[in-house]
Amino acid sequence: MIQTKILGTGRAVPGQVLTNFDLEKIVETSDAWITERTGIKERRILEKDRATSDLAAEAGLAACEAAGISPKEIDCILVGTVTPDVPMPATAVYVQRRMGVPPCAAFDLSAACAGFLYGLTIGDAFVKNRQFKRVLVIGVEILSRILDWKDRNTCVLFGDGAGAVVLGPSEQAPGERLRGILSTHIYADGTGAEALSIPAGGSRNPTSATTLADNLHCVKMNGKTVFTNAVRNISASCMVALETNNMTAPEVDMVVAHQANLRILEGVSQRCGLPLEKFYLNIHKYGNTSSASIPIALDEAVREGKIKPGMLLLFCALGAGFSWGSALVRW
Ligand code: UT7
Repeated sequence: MIQTKILGTGRAVPGQVLTNFDLEKIVETSDAWITERTGIKERRILEKDRATSDLAAEAGLAACEAAGISPKEIDCILVGTVTPDVPMPATAVYVQRRMGVPPCAAFDLSAACAGFLYGLTIGDAFVKNRQFKRVLVIGVEILSRILDWKDRNTCVLFGDGAGAVVLGPSEQAPGERLRGILSTHIYADGTGAEALSIPAGGSRNPTSATTLADNLHCVKMNGKTVFTNAVRNISASCMVALETNNMTAPEVDMVVAHQANLRILEGVSQRCGLPLEKFYLNIHKYGNTSSASIPIALDEAVREGKIKPGMLLLFCALGAGFSWGSALVRW
């Protein structure tokens, strides 16, 4: 039987740090408000002369090195992002070129903050059905480029970053405890589409002088609606992950959740009976990096030696769409 394993992880975050105190000089906000309402203290901002694929390739190369493979062995690249280099072609092809990967399957997928979980699901399926042997799944966002820096409701929340994993097959003997990706569950509900969106720049509302004047190319969000949906749907998908595998919350060793708001994670913790101490937290350092947040957190936890073979990890996220999901992984 074939299982999909995470063979290596990597991350890349820009060097430039923007603190809450820096933001106090840009919009009417305070370090106290941001810290209390979100848990964020600072975030990273990409240098002006770099783009999404530059950061994604850096994370991808780190993941290949950790997996002990050459980038030349990659046969599929999946990039979860809502901040591509350009509308066309896919950011994944720039990543492929920059990493020196020979011609392979490469495409982007758009599921906002759930992008990494969507990519993991697709990559897992490709590996299990033997279509590809070395799948690189990347979550990457340069959100600083699509924020309205006059809107304190959104600009204080997000940051830039990239995280990556290399997936590959592992043979399991009958009766052996299952390792690798045990299950993934992904969902979407378009009735929530307007709660978090960029209103212009596509076929509905093509770029025009009016859309630019009205600032419709930036993130617009109804924070409360997103918050409520996040707690409810993330919790539900975590419970489905456990039920599917006949497991219970106490068996989970670590929750590697999308880092959007510490209070969302507290809500999920309470609803699911998963103590907050089991959540890997780095929101204070990076803010909400959307699709990059789970693989960045995973890579940090791995490199800090906090993830040991045999541990049970629960991934979960919700973002624009709404799109959400969960994955259970035996390391
Ligand atoms: O990855 C998925 C994407 N996004 C999310 O998951 C975000 C989900 N939502 C949230 O995290 C929270 O709703 C926010 C952090 C965005 C907002 O927290 P909240 O507790 O829901 O605050 P609120 O929107 O109810 O605002 C409370 C007050 C308002 O003032 P009034 O109307 O009570 O006078 C806001 O104008 O806080 C004000 N406010 C701010 N004050 C200082 C909003 N943003 C700020 C700010 N600094 N940055």
